[in-house]
Amino acid sequence: MPRVIYRQPDGSARTVHVTAGETVLDGALDNVIEGIIGQCGGAMNCLTCHCYVAPEWRDRVPPPEEDEAEMLDYVVVPGPGGRLGCQLHITDALDGLTVQVPIAQLPDDLPETD
Ligand code: FES
Repeated sequence: MPRVIYRQPDGSARTVHVTAGETVLDGALDNVIEGIIGQCGGAMNCLTCHCYVAPEWRDRVPPPEEDEAEMLDYVVVPGPGGRLGCQLHITDALDGLTVQVPIAQLPDDLPETD
C-alpha cells in the first residue's frame, strides 16, 4: 500500500498508508492529519484540503484538471506545488509522496469567530 508523508509547518511529519485509488484527503482524514479538513467531502468547493506537493514530487504527480486549477486560485495562501488533496489520487507510483500542510489551515492560525 503506498505511503504518503504529511509534513506540518513545525517540521514534524507523519507517514501513513493510503490505499491506491484513494486521495491525499482520504489519507489525511483516515489518520487525523491536522490541517487537512475536507469540509465539503471532496466536492471541490471548500478548499480546506489544500496542501503543497513537495518539490521532488511535483513532476511526478499528474497535473490538476481544469476545475481544480481554477479553484486553486482561491486558496488562502497559494504557492508552488499547491493542490487540492481531494483531487490528488494515490497510485503505487506515488509511494512516498510528500505533501506540506499549509500553516493557514492549522487551528491556531484560523481567525476567531464570534
Ligand atoms: S475537500 Fe473541499 S475542496 Fe477538497
